[in-house]
Amino acid sequence: MDSHELIHRSQTNQTQEPLPLGSSPKRSKSLKKFINPVHYMLRSQRLICLFAGIAISTLFFNRFPLSSSPVPRQPQSIDPFPQSESTQQTRRRVLYESHWEDAFDRRVNAGGKMPLGLKRKSLRVLVTGGAGFVGSHLVDRLMERGDSVIVVDNFFTGKKDNLVHHFGNPRFELIRHDVVEPILLEVDQIYHLACPASPVHYKFNPVKTIKTNVAGTLNMLGLAKRVGARFLLTSTSEVYGDPLQHPQSETYWGNVNPIGVRSCYDEGKRTAETLTMDYHRGLGIEVRIARIFNTYGPRMCIDDGRVVSNFVAQALRKEPLTVYGDGKQTRSFQYVADLVEGLMRLMEGEHVGPFNLGNPGEFTMLELAKVVQEVIDPKARIEFRPNTEDDPHKRKPDITKAKRLLGWEPTVTLRKGLPRMVADFRQRIFGDQKEEGGLTTTSLFSA
Ligand SMILES: NC(=O)c1ccc[n+]([C@@H]2O[C@H](COP(=O)([O-])OP(=O)(O)OC[C@H]3O[C@@H](n4cnc5c(N)ncnc54)[C@H](O)[C@@H]3O)[C@@H](O)[C@H]2O)c1
Repeated sequence: MDSHELIHRSQTNQTQEPLPLGSSPKRSKSLKKFINPVHYMLRSQRLICLFAGIAISTLFFNRFPLSSSPVPRQPQSIDPFPQSESTQQTRRRVLYESHWEDAFDRRVNAGGKMPLGLKRKSLRVLVTGGAGFVGSHLVDRLMERGDSVIVVDNFFTGKKDNLVHHFGNPRFELIRHDVVEPILLEVDQIYHLACPASPVHYKFNPVKTIKTNVAGTLNMLGLAKRVGARFLLTSTSEVYGDPLQHPQSETYWGNVNPIGVRSCYDEGKRTAETLTMDYHRGLGIEVRIARIFNTYGPRMCIDDGRVVSNFVAQALRKEPLTVYGDGKQTRSFQYVADLVEGLMRLMEGEHVGPFNLGNPGEFTMLELAKVVQEVIDPKARIEFRPNTEDDPHKRKPDITKAKRLLGWEPTVTLRKGLPRMVADFRQRIFGDQKEEGGLTTTSLFSA
């Protein structure tokens, strides 16, 4: 047996030599079959040629893939069947890839080179409440970025006018719908803004407000679960109530009256946050929570009772500026473009939140009235009225967390942002088509 093995090894090393005595011709024939091609390959550098061929074809197919669309999108239709786990995983992958591509795109925009044939994949984004003040500015930014945007709004406080400049764009859709009712849409991201935000509007029908916050948020979270979309809730600084901690950081649990006239909004948003976190913890939905502090800018409702819009409209109409209480209660005011930037960073980032999004610059109501006088009419009178129920005394965001984890902080000061809002209000109140100080529509709305 040992001698046989020795004989075979020697055969493999010397295939061209005559067969040694004792080896069978059948076995040597099968060995030749194996050895001959190897020899053939080794001769005349044919092996090098083979490897070179493999390398060239790999490069070619990487550069010109047979199919350019990696994962086909699902058609946008109402699907009566629940999504399977695997479909959800596919969608998550689409989302992940899109996010990767976004990051890639940002790198490219930051000065890197875009390799030929690679293009940023746009997302399909749902914005509930997109016809409102904040929502319409967010839609502008998403459209600018090249995404496809679906707005769902019941036009309670929102207006088509805020979105009219996107009508006719194939990437834009507007659906009249109340979020209290379910809706099925194929989307990658959901910005959930639908909810009246000013006290005048949310107190108008408090039961509807709490339904919007609870049933509306449940419906949107259900949609996010079904299609594997990332969900962002626009909560509010009102979750801190009349705060006992100043400034308010995200770890503060608040001081809210559960049975007051503002509770439909405050407690509604608190419940919406709870639902969002429970869907995240219990069902693995990707969520983000923003706690928005007072925001102002063009397209705010003119008579919504919020302090900045009140003062600006009153000063323009030559009416006295109404200050409630002694005017020493404080608020911080952020320009809408800063907020939209923060919301988008939060959505694209890796952190759930909650994150305070607001301008830490604190003003008393009297100081704000003075800035409005400076910008619009130095002769505008100030009139004091009794304070409203449950009006918080102090409000100022601690934005350390947003600065650290989102790299975000407001950049537009009140004195810079207010004139843009005034120009928009002037146009809407007086129908004045001439834009102040040479401002174009775009420059009017952007930072
Ligand atoms: N603007 C702020 O200072 C501020 C502060 C804190 C939180 N927020 C939050 O940001 C979001 C947007 O606020 P905004 O200032 O743009 O308010 P807004 O009133 O201008 O916009 C709200 C939009 O939601 C729509 N809407 C209301 N109920 C709806 C329903 N049931 N179904 C469908 N659509 C509905 C309205 O028609 C409107 O278009 C709100 O969730 C609000 O709570 C805003």
